[in-house]
Amino acid sequence: MVEKNGMTKHIPVLLEETREGLYLKKGAIVVDATLGGGGHTREILKHILPGGKVIAIDADLSALDAFRVRVAEDDFFRQALKKNSLILVHDNYSSLEEVLDREGIETVDAILADLGFSSDQIETGDRGFSFSQSGPLDMRLNQETELTAGEIVNTFSLEKIESILRGCGDESESRRIASAIIVARGEKSFTTTDELRDVIEKAYPRGKRQRMKIHPATQTFQALRIAVNQESEHLEKFLKQAIERLKVGGRIAVITFHSGEDRIVKQFFKKQAMGCVCPPGFPVCRCGNEPKIRILTKKPIIPTDKEVKDNPRSRSAKLRIAEKL
Ligand SMILES: C[S@@+](CC[C@H](N)C(=O)[O-])C[C@H]1O[C@@H](n2cnc3c(N)ncnc32)[C@H](O)[C@@H]1O
Repeated sequence: MVEKNGMTKHIPVLLEETREGLYLKKGAIVVDATLGGGGHTREILKHILPGGKVIAIDADLSALDAFRVRVAEDDFFRQALKKNSLILVHDNYSSLEEVLDREGIETVDAILADLGFSSDQIETGDRGFSFSQSGPLDMRLNQETELTAGEIVNTFSLEKIESILRGCGDESESRRIASAIIVARGEKSFTTTDELRDVIEKAYPRGKRQRMKIHPATQTFQALRIAVNQESEHLEKFLKQAIERLKVGGRIAVITFHSGEDRIVKQFFKKQAMGCVCPPGFPVCRCGNEPKIRILTKKPIIPTDKEVKDNPRSRSAKLRIAEKL
């Protein structure tokens, strides 16, 4: 999870844009819902100390353990932990309200979620997140949950697998890949990531495969990861709670990495900013809904060419920001 020298391999994306968007002030109380390597948390702390506090959540216990190991060699974080300016929480961000209740915090000034997985998680083979590393077909973010990627590919029906690949991965060859998975598992159950990657590679039409900019297994692996960890469901729950627990004038910033995630955030923000949800023909409003947020990013903020060059993983990042009304 961490390199031998204790460094994270994860480079935080859209760091400056996120910090500016969160409009941080000294003494602010902030939630970083996705601690990861701690890059965004560090930047936030720099702008809210002295007096401020970050509640940093991660659902992956290994990510938190790795962070704690690194802290031993990092004076800045060590001091922040010692002074209770940084609180580490192992939980899913969909339990945000419970997390804040446990900390005795009613409302916060800013909330960040930098979705998905860190380079540390992807580059370690033993979790099964990456098709370029051999590993078990696990993909669970939290080892206490039950469903694994192996269970999906070895036991789910053709229709169910196809629907996961299409719905969660936008995979245009979902039918072909799902059929190839069913045929392959008839001979031998899948146990490793490379077995699955090979079947996907062979299933892809050759001409299309040669024209692709990404590896043909990219979207299938992404789809399985999303399904295993119920990412869309957790994101929706998190967004609702985040808006409730923001102070008036407080900011929420969400960084997404694929179209499905971005769609959820965009539509959620739009609905919360709209207020009235009465059908268009109604002469007067009957729902009484008031707008809860103001959207600050009509279009999402994306990385500059320089950032993408320096950190190719940032290429699909999209940042959306809103302010509580
Ligand atoms: C892209 S990384 C965050 C990187 C971090 N901003 C940094 O600068 O190092 C996403 C992190 O969120 C965590 N994560 C993903 N889904 C989560 C969820 N539903 N609840 C809590 N943490 C989650 C992952 O374990 C991972 O460590």
